[in-house]
Order: sequence, then structure tokens, then C-alpha cells
Amino acid sequence: MKFFIDTANLAQIKEANELGILDGVTTNPSLMAKEGIKGQEAIMNHYKTICEMVDGDISAEVISTDFDGIIAEGKKLAAIHPNIIVKVPMIKEGIKAIKWFTDNGIKTNCTLVFSAGQAILAAKAGATYLSPFIGRIDDSSWDGVELIAQISQIYSIQGFKTQILAASIRNALHIVRCAEAGADVCTCPLDSILGLLKHPLTDIGLAKFLEDAKKTA
Ligand code: E4P
Repeated sequence: MKFFIDTANLAQIKEANELGILDGVTTNPSLMAKEGIKGQEAIMNHYKTICEMVDGDISAEVISTDFDGIIAEGKKLAAIHPNIIVKVPMIKEGIKAIKWFTDNGIKTNCTLVFSAGQAILAAKAGATYLSPFIGRIDDSSWDGVELIAQISQIYSIQGFKTQILAASIRNALHIVRCAEAGADVCTCPLDSILGLLKHPLTDIGLAKFLEDAKKTA
């Protein structure tokens, strides 16, 4: 399973990248706004900076909702760097655009996915990645990881090549459960990635080893 970080914060991207386990980055307009990135030029430059920091797939989201607008925006984003993945919302015009991008050699990430039906449609259009938002599903008292498992089964039976990118991750357990459920990628906040490190017995064990090591010094 690949690890992406879900942020536009450069310090967090750097910290995750330095772990040596980072395969890419996902962003969205809310994450860009959170970092105070304003205006098209600043947004483009920010994507460029991220692409130069991380050697992996970098999702950059379109904000147009009509076919022509999505295509025009996606072409500009894709021209920033070969690793840019054009992130397109799961809407009718988005599906048409994903098919167009697929036919024209531009990789896509179909975002805002909440059902297996949407997952089938995105795969038919040739999306490179599919982003089911599992945390937001959990927030509405459904089981987001169950959706990952269902899509994984469908893609496997049908031979779809679209990679399942579990998004809207809220904690380390989500990452573990998504790995079990067959996600190809997890995009996570830094805290959830670092949460994987945590176990009290590791801390207790290390403290004891270091204490005992003093006896052998
Ligand atoms: C996906 O690519 C989105 O950027 C993100 O995972 C959404 O997460 P949220 O529900 O925490 O906003």
C-alpha cells in the first residue's frame, strides 16, 4: 500500500518525506486555503514546490464544474510537472472529463466518492485513482472502511485498474483497516501516519533496554 500525505503544509510534507515512506501528496481547495495560498499563480507555484519536494504523485484539484472548464484547468495543472494528478470531482461533467483526460494521457484522481456505484463509474472512465472519503462516511454513522472493502472486491472481480485511494483518514486505525480492506493507497494527515508508531510497550521496552545498557557500558 502506498502512503500519501493529505495536506498543503510544506513543513508537514517535509517531515513525512524525511521518514522515507512517502509516495505522494494529496491536496484540496480547503487544504490550500488553510495554508493561506491565494490566487492562481500562488496556487500553481505551491504545487510546483510540492512536486520538487516529493518524488511521487501529487494530486491538484480543479475547481471548475463544467466539462470545458475542468479540461482547461486540468491541462494547466498537468503542465506544472509530470507527477501532477488532476483531481476531479465525482459529478457528471467530472466523469466526462476523466474519460477525456484518460484518452489524452493525463492521470486523474476522482474525488468526493461515497458509494460503490460512483466507484464503478470512475473506473469505467479510466480514473487513475479513486478517493472514497472514509472519515466523512464514518461521521454520518456509516462504515467508511466497509466501502473500501466493497470497492476492492468489485475492482478485483471486474479487473478494473483504478487504484483505491482511501481519503479522509482520521486516525492510525483507519490506515490499518484500509490496508486490510484492500486500499492501494492511504492519504493521511501527518498525525495519523505518526500514530502508527505508537505503542506503550515499545516505549517501556526501550526505556528498559537503555537503562540496562548503562550496566554494560
Ligand atoms: C482527499 O483527497 C481529501 O483531500 C481529504 O482526504 C478529505 O479529508 P477530510 O474529510 O478530513 O476533509
